Amino acid sequence: MTNQPHPEPTNSTPELFTREFAADPYPAYAWLRDHAPVHRTELPSGVEAWLVTRYADAKQALADQRLSKNPAHHDEPAHAKGKTGIPGERKAELMTHLLNIDPPDHTRLRRLVSKAFTPRRVAEFAPRVQELTDRLIDGFAGRGSADLIHEFAFPLPIYAICDMLGVPREDQDDFRDWAGMMIRHGGGPRGGVARSVKKMRGYLADLIHRKREALPEAPGPGEDLISGLIRASDHGEHLTENEAAAMAFILLFAGFETTVNLIGNGTYALLGRPGQRARLQASLARGERGLLETGVEELLRYDGPVELATWRFATQPLTIGGQDIAPGDPVLVVLAAADRDPERFADPDRLDLARRDNQHLGYGHGIHYCLGAPLARLEGQTALATLLTRLPDLQLAVDSTDLRWRGGLIMRGLRTLPVEFTPIP
Ligand code: HEM
Repeated sequence: MTNQPHPEPTNSTPELFTREFAADPYPAYAWLRDHAPVHRTELPSGVEAWLVTRYADAKQALADQRLSKNPAHHDEPAHAKGKTGIPGERKAELMTHLLNIDPPDHTRLRRLVSKAFTPRRVAEFAPRVQELTDRLIDGFAGRGSADLIHEFAFPLPIYAICDMLGVPREDQDDFRDWAGMMIRHGGGPRGGVARSVKKMRGYLADLIHRKREALPEAPGPGEDLISGLIRASDHGEHLTENEAAAMAFILLFAGFETTVNLIGNGTYALLGRPGQRARLQASLARGERGLLETGVEELLRYDGPVELATWRFATQPLTIGGQDIAPGDPVLVVLAAADRDPERFADPDRLDLARRDNQHLGYGHGIHYCLGAPLARLEGQTALATLLTRLPDLQLAVDSTDLRWRGGLIMRGLRTLPVEFTPIP
């Protein structure tokens, strides 16, 4: 279990991608770091990829420009067509977003949107995140029990990002439904997920069109992000309408399941460690922020939302950790393994909310470093602090062995998190 402070590494090549692995991948990652730090494996989809598990190699690979983010560099084997999890709709408009492109397009698009995500801009958003957090807790506080994933961790980031983008409040529940479909059924391009993506695409195209018609001459204070993107596309900054829609889509997509998992995994880790949790509650009661801030970083390192960084593809021969990689080969950097590397972190399998030397890779590294990190920090800190303050005796309502983890490749998170607490009026 994740809750054990010192997972025992297994002795032989571990089986990856089983249900047990999903519940606790860390012993298998410890084995890989020790015995096969750059390991070629067949993924559940049938595609073969390299897994990079040591911190130093991971950091190098994340910043290596010879590894492209553009899925066109990969030749899908015929038997795996469309099932690889590699963004299949590579020509679809919504797929030309930051996580699938390289410089110079990446540099141009990232510059346009980065203004909206400075720590200062995001701090202006704090009262709204607090209000959303309180409203969601109000929804179940009187009941004494809740599923924290569905009733709290999931809706919070959706409403927050919709607000930031400028999706009108009355339409935000549609986004909640579409996102729910995407998170329940993974990122695969078929069936209900494809319908949800299509609806979201249609809605965003229409919203961009309507906002363009109504755009005032000059930007007002607190102008929403979509209006900002339209302004950029109208003023010769070379942003096409498709790119604006793809940008809105990736902000939603990159910003919701990750934050759901930060809140879910983070709360779960705290509930299993009464001592650490009591220290945090005591420091919050004294009105201090320090332990909350280092604590959320530590929760990201210890059991972060993104297990594997998104796809990268070798564009030329290169060597990582002494292993030769051929052009076209997919490379997956295992952030969860790198962040438990004893070469980098003292006592890495121990959760230490006060950890200082903590340059974890939970938000990635290099030019694709998480754009939304300031917003994610704000949401994670607000959610955990408010939960622990308003529901001080919060506890798991089931045995931790009964919890199920989602089986997706990139993300790591719980399906449900049933909790109980003394009801508050
Ligand atoms: C990129 C993690 C929340 C937007 C990334 C990457 C990671 C990551 C690891 C790099 C992926 C790679 O290099 O393959 C996280 C975590 C979050 C979080 C752990 C929550 C705790 C958010 C939020 C937003 C966001 C709230 C926006 C609203 C993005 C975007 C990128 C990105 C746009 C792509 C940046 C680029 O390619 O230049 N994130 N993220 N993320 N994230 Fe986040």
